[in-house]
Order: sequence, then structure tokens, then C-alpha cells
Amino acid sequence: MTVLVTGGAGYIGSHTCVELLNAGFDVVVYDNFSNSTPESLKRVMQITSKKLSTVCGDVRDKALLEKTLEGCDAVIHFAGSKAVGESVEKPLEYYENNVYATLCLLQSMRRMNIKKLIFSSSATVYGNPEFLPFTEAHPLRTTNPYGQTKLVIEEMLRNLHVSDPTWSIAILRYFNPVGAHESGLIGENPQGIPNNLMPYIAQVAIGRRQCVNVFGNDYPTKDGTGVRDYLHVVDLASGHLKALAFLDRPQCTAVNLGTGKGYSVLDVIHAFSKACGKEIPYAILPRRAGDIAEFYSDPSFAKELLGWAAKYDLDKMCEDMWRFQCQNPKGYEE
Ligand code: WQD
Repeated sequence: MTVLVTGGAGYIGSHTCVELLNAGFDVVVYDNFSNSTPESLKRVMQITSKKLSTVCGDVRDKALLEKTLEGCDAVIHFAGSKAVGESVEKPLEYYENNVYATLCLLQSMRRMNIKKLIFSSSATVYGNPEFLPFTEAHPLRTTNPYGQTKLVIEEMLRNLHVSDPTWSIAILRYFNPVGAHESGLIGENPQGIPNNLMPYIAQVAIGRRQCVNVFGNDYPTKDGTGVRDYLHVVDLASGHLKALAFLDRPQCTAVNLGTGKGYSVLDVIHAFSKACGKEIPYAILPRRAGDIAEFYSDPSFAKELLGWAAKYDLDKMCEDMWRFQCQNPKGYEE
């Protein structure tokens, strides 16, 4: 079975390619490398001792995309912009790069009669919690343009499936992916100043940054700092393979991929300090605009439907992230 992976050179994409190759799938990566590097794919092939095909292309280029789709059986769609803060400043670019690009993908898949799709969605579609843990039945409404693009795409997929029930679509709602492959060869490689907590902590630990800015310690949480459901990226990648097996029957289903456990910012700092053997300096700053105090998943539907559950704990996430950071002090670009 041949799987086209859009954005396959990215953080979650590259880890998913490792699992796909190890499971015996043929993989074609389609990536414009706007927020990734071909180096990650070289390392994917090094880890697996297997080859994958790569096409440098933009999802909006339907001619090239359809040519690349020839011979593929399914698509995993990671390509897109994902920075919440940036989406507030550049909403039109986010609608173009996420919504319009996904529309182009669906139209191309339809023309090629390929109707198996895994879509990379996000827990951000739940917005402020009405109840916790988040189940898939929680109301959908988002608090930022990035989340809104994910929600619009989800609605587009549900509408498509109603119009043509022969589509088989899995919508995977990620909680907070962190960590790295245990080889230390691939991991999170943010360009510029990391938006997300874990890569920022790792850069402080390696000496690239001075101290961790803790955005608020006055939330109604156990220690006042934000609580999230951190998920090892390899667990997340494995969830995609379980979802791929599930695509053997037409449906359109949304599934949470999380651990079901919430950890605070200070929990993560302490866990990372244990993993790297150093104190991690931090300063308490005001809350970050748009942040939610606390959310975490109820992952029971993923267990019931896909037979998937996260295996790795926070210590393992930090250990693996630290190994990647040590082996790649400046990320992939030396
Ligand atoms: C986690 C916690 C911050 C940075 C976002 C997107 C989500 C997904 C993951 C794409 C919060 C605190 C953070 C820092 C801090 N992205 N924090 N100092 O905001 O939960 O989720 O990224 O798919 O869709 O919404 O992740 O890592 O930015 O923040 O104190 O330097 O860490 O306030 O409580 P977030 P995050």
C-alpha cells in the first residue's frame, strides 16, 4: 500500500514516515519545505534503512499533486501552518495555506479516485472547556484563526462524506505532541524562537536561550501554571497507523489522540530538569493572550475504535527530546 504524506518532512510527518516504513508501507512525501528540511527525510531513511520518494511541491499546485497522487492508495495530510499567534497576525495566509490547500487536495484526490484520508486536526477545535476531559462530543468552537481553519476543514470533510459516503476519513485531534525518536536523529526543529513550551525548555537546557518564560502562574490549576495533555510524538505517529488500518471501511470519524493526563508548565520544567540533569531557570511572566488554563483528553474512544493508547510518559518524552537536542544543538541546520 502506497501512502502520500503531505508535510512529511515536518516534525510529526517525519516521525509518522518512520512508522509507515517500518510497517512495510511505501511512502511518497510531498512537501514544499517552507517549514521543514529534506535533511529530516534523509534521517528517516537512515533510521529505517528503507527508501521513500520525495516530491518538492505545494498542495495548492493541483497539476503536480495529481501527478504525484498517481499510484497512491491513501493520503495523510500534515501540510499546513500551525502557529496560533502567527494566525492572529496573518489570518488570510492561514486560510489560504490550510483551508484552500486542503480543498485543492480533496479535489485532486477526487479526480484521482483516491478516497482514503487521514487529516491532522487539533484539540484547539474544542476551545475553552465546557467540561474536562475533552471527549469527541465536546462542543466545537475555537478561539483563534489557526483553530478556526482546522474546524472549517473538519466541517468540509464531514460535508464531503455526506455527499459521497464512499470516502473513508479519519480526523485526528492531536493534543500536545512533544519528544523525539529515541535515535535522536529526528525531532522538533522549530525555525526561530520556539512558540511551544517543550522545544523552548530544551533550548534553555542546551544553552541557546537564557531562561524559560512561564506565561502566567495565576490560572485556576494545581500550581497556577497552564495544564496540557503532552503526547510523545512516536505515540502520535503510531496512532496514524492504527487510523490507516481503520480506513478500510467508508466513514468520517474524529478521534482524540492524547494520554488523558494533564501536566502543568512547572511539571514539565521539573521533568526536563530531571532528564537533562540541570536546573532549568525560569521567570514568571503575565499570561499569553489566547491561552486556555487547562485541557486534556479523554482518549477512550481511540482505544475502543482504533485499539490505540499512548505508551510513553512525560519522563520518556523529556529524555528523548533532550537526546535529540544534544545531538542537534542547532537543529538540523548546522
Ligand atoms: C503549552 C503551555 C503555555 C511556551 C499549541 C496549539 C496546538 C498545538 C500545540 C499545533 C501553555 C505554556 C508555552 C512558553 C509557557 N499546535 N508556555 N512558556 O498553546 O497548548 O498548543 O501548540 O497543532 O494546536 O494551540 O502549546 O506549548 O505553546 O503551550 O509558559 O514559552 O505552556 O502558556 O500553558 P499550546 P504550547
